[in-house]
Amino acid sequence: MTQKIIIDTDPGQDDALAILLALASPEVEVLGIVAAAGNVPLSLTSKNIRKICELAGRPDVRVFSGCKGPMEGSLFTAEYVHGATGMDGADLPEPTMPLQAQHGVEFIIETVMANAPGTVTICTLGPMTNLGTALAREPAIAGRIKQIVSMGGGLFEGGNVTPAAEFNIYVDPRAAEIVLGCGAPIVLMPLDVTHKTLTTSARVAAVKALGTRLSDAVVGWLEFFERFDEAKYGTDGGPLHDPNVIAYLIKPELYAGRLCNVEIETKSELTKGMTVADWWGVTQRPKNATFMRDVDADGFYALLTERLQRLPHEA
Ligand code: BDR
Ligand code: CA
Repeated sequence: MTQKIIIDTDPGQDDALAILLALASPEVEVLGIVAAAGNVPLSLTSKNIRKICELAGRPDVRVFSGCKGPMEGSLFTAEYVHGATGMDGADLPEPTMPLQAQHGVEFIIETVMANAPGTVTICTLGPMTNLGTALAREPAIAGRIKQIVSMGGGLFEGGNVTPAAEFNIYVDPRAAEIVLGCGAPIVLMPLDVTHKTLTTSARVAAVKALGTRLSDAVVGWLEFFERFDEAKYGTDGGPLHDPNVIAYLIKPELYAGRLCNVEIETKSELTKGMTVADWWGVTQRPKNATFMRDVDADGFYALLTERLQRLPHEA
């Protein structure tokens, strides 16, 4: 059965790949895409989402602008990874499709309340500000959301912005705390998974071989985006984070993890944004999230590459 999803995202080259994967896949119906502030400010992420939809031949997708900055504190961005536009590596035309007038937070609330309970999945690919704000404003959505699938956090891999914290959680720990405590079923795709889905030269070559305008843009993004992490980690290719969220919805059998308690550190300067995951069950705290740890990386890339081929493209 087709899964109804809302994507909340801060593109970002890897966010772009996640959106393309969703738009190419009949297993999911994208009800709308909400822009988050994260990798770059909101004015750019809300534009980037529309560029991606137009690249995919989907100017009909409804795109909403969300919150300008985190629920607490000021916005920390990552141009040092993603470039000044957030999607450096491919030059796409300015979008002509509109941004919806409704605020993204209102869209999330209205959509979850208007659909039958247990039918709408929320996918967060950036800081959880919009979903956290929606839950704070209308707590009743928590009991109606089918599941929340989020890229965020890290346990065995540690963090990528600080030794303890992964970027999406670090930018808005308060929002992540609200989401993790909301009671809806949650699946977290942490760095422990995404650091296993590397953009190796062979995998990038397979995308390049598609030989389309779309694949050229994707390869441009991947080559730009991976250079930072290749230097940092000394690997062939860099981690491709966000498409894991969508791949999980399409092929959950690619992933393995454990239902456990996950709390968010919001106070300590040293470990702010850390996902304190009780993997070994050493506390009695409630098991509130499925924390993923393993992935069939070749299966993931086979899925991604096959789906990219399905999108409309000019040679
Ligand atoms: C996450 O942060 C962003 O840079 C990526 O888009 C991904 O969502 C990885 O830590
Ligand atoms: Ca992202």
